[in-house]
Amino acid sequence: MLPPLMAHRKVTILGIETSCDETAAAVVSNGTEIRSSVVASSAALHEKYGGVVPEIASRAQVENIYPVIKEALDEAAVGPQDIDAVAIANQPGLTIALVVGVTTAKTLAFMWEKPLIAINHLHAHLQSALLDEPEMVPPAVALIVSGGHTSLYACTSPLELTRLGSTQDDAAGEAFDKVASILKLPYPGGPSIEKAAQNGNPKAHSFPRSMLGRDSLDFSFSGIKTAVLYHCRGQDMKGDDRVDAMSDREIADIAASFQAAVVEVLVKKTQRAADRMDAKTLLLGGGVAANTALRSALQTMANNTKRRLLVAPRPYCTDNAVMVASLAYHKYRAGLFAEMTLEPSASA
Ligand code: KG4
Ligand code: ZN
Repeated sequence: MLPPLMAHRKVTILGIETSCDETAAAVVSNGTEIRSSVVASSAALHEKYGGVVPEIASRAQVENIYPVIKEALDEAAVGPQDIDAVAIANQPGLTIALVVGVTTAKTLAFMWEKPLIAINHLHAHLQSALLDEPEMVPPAVALIVSGGHTSLYACTSPLELTRLGSTQDDAAGEAFDKVASILKLPYPGGPSIEKAAQNGNPKAHSFPRSMLGRDSLDFSFSGIKTAVLYHCRGQDMKGDDRVDAMSDREIADIAASFQAAVVEVLVKKTQRAADRMDAKTLLLGGGVAANTALRSALQTMANNTKRRLLVAPRPYCTDNAVMVASLAYHKYRAGLFAEMTLEPSASA
């Protein structure tokens, strides 16, 4: 049954996000009016492992979910009576982390007698590019670059997405994290590499740009990670780890050269997809979208090809629940609700 849509009344949605190491809740009205956004991250707990440990992430989700939702409701000064629907990112992600949010969202929807809305985490990342300017000119090509995924989508509206290509091995963010770990820079690696790269020469080293053939819209980032590893440890991997002996300048040059190679591939593939789709608009979202070099290279490409680039605002590039509640508004308007039997799913 469709909830009544009254033109004069705002639609206010509680969004919940627990797909990996962030626990997030947000209250958003009419898709773009952000009334609260709360994010608790367990990233610091994963730092010594150089990557997310699922068991630790899941425990942190359980600890954080209740206070995070309470804070989001309090900050927005709303109660259950003001909420029209509960939205949850139920895929993709770590199943043992997703299940915490899915169970909580189902419980709240049941107790409050509100509709439940299931959101694809990647589609929500794309939606965050539309927060500032919801009326995009279609067709659009969207690049979603995160720690777990790197994909290109054709998009005619927030709910109409077709995947054009994705990574065949590491995600772009994962490559940033792994290279940061090789260079002994702090986790998460993306911001660390970006910071180190500021003082480096992006042309110092020529790391491989894997294009996977003339027509491919897929990505591969495991080769570049290995190239950096060989560079630091020698081709046979038997040499000493040279990183400890490297100067800050040498580290900066590797970081800048690595970042330049990843950005070049991302921009070229996005242009390839946009040319093929005759796209008028480009969308950029996901954690790696916070990267200034990527944002400015895509902006240059958009200017040169006379396309409009819409980028997720920085606070909503990495995982958050605003993007979940924002996309849920479109599903609410379309009457696309989930059953109480909703399950988490690791795959997209
Ligand atoms: O979207 P996100 O929060 O989580 C996933 O859905 O995976 O993305 C996290 C990823 C991490 O790999 C992190 O290193 C990367 O985004 N990241 C960045 C930057 N900020 C975060 N990568 C490059 N430059 C950044 N400034
Ligand atoms: Zn994400």
